[in-house]
Amino acid sequence: MMVTDRLQKEARELEPVLVEALEGLSGVPQALRAAMAHALLDGGKRLRPALVLAACEAVGGTRAEGLPGAIALECLHSYSLVHDDLPCMDDDDLRRGRPTVHKAFGEAMAVLAGDALLTLAFESLTRGPAAADRKMRALRLLSEAGGAVGMVGGQALDLLAEGKEPKLEEVEEIHRRKTGALIEAALGVGALLGGGAPPLVEALRSYGRALGLAFQIVDDCLDQTQTASELGKTAGKDLEAGKVTWVACLGVEESLKQARSLVSEAISALGPIPLPNPHVGFLKELAFFVLSRSH
Ligand code: IPE
Ligand code: IPE
Ligand code: MG
Ligand code: MG
Ligand code: MG
Repeated sequence: MMVTDRLQKEARELEPVLVEALEGLSGVPQALRAAMAHALLDGGKRLRPALVLAACEAVGGTRAEGLPGAIALECLHSYSLVHDDLPCMDDDDLRRGRPTVHKAFGEAMAVLAGDALLTLAFESLTRGPAAADRKMRALRLLSEAGGAVGMVGGQALDLLAEGKEPKLEEVEEIHRRKTGALIEAALGVGALLGGGAPPLVEALRSYGRALGLAFQIVDDCLDQTQTASELGKTAGKDLEAGKVTWVACLGVEESLKQARSLVSEAISALGPIPLPNPHVGFLKELAFFVLSRSH
């Protein structure tokens, strides 16, 4: 099966699970529920949940053990997009081919829908059949990756750097934190929930670290090279907003070259995982997909 077909299949299978996660919440005000559904359902490549499940199964865990982690990563990622798009942050009107949550539901409801998806992520991680000590480690990892030392800190650096002279070491720090941290956490959470031995968890996280940086470098390139209808989000936004990006430092061609080399690094990091292992094959293909994607 082509990697894009497999990703789409995973996305289709995840959809009812995400619907159920929202429906399981009782007493949620209708406007908040609608804003959460708009942010979470029926959109996105669902890359992070696919990474969680592949990592879980690569170390011998079951899908059932990994699924709460997949839900958690997609909830946390979707929240980060809602807040990233707010007028006080990147001020974007389009996301996943639709109006952003604040455009459709107002700013206050967008802030709250983000808050609610963030907390739902952690609730989800407490569920499922994985042993309690594995869940505890996964919770710790996701808390660190999603918070001030990880994604939130990276988003702060991204905003503080707007309009400044781009310096590659600073852009690398921003990219590793605002985007890389959650992608690495997807691999780590999956591997922990699946009960992976420490060297395997570390191998998968190293893959995620290299892939996560490549992912944001490619995101910077796509912002420059694609149209809004291809992206499902505003194009050419980084230059207009004075963002410090990989492309601003090195241009598109050199950026893609470095992304390719990071993808090779990611694939090499999977070395310690014993073969044959079909999930490792999928992770390798996913790494190439990150380079070749059009949105
Ligand atoms: C967009 O992430 C935000 C970044 C971290 C660059 P994705 O490109 O994975 O967005 P969706 O989930 O597919 O919409
Ligand atoms: C987003 O970076 C990172 C997070 C949402 C945490 P960008 O601001 O480049 O993402 P897009 O391009 O709006 O998706
Ligand atoms: Mg941003
Ligand atoms: Mg943005
Ligand atoms: Mg971007």
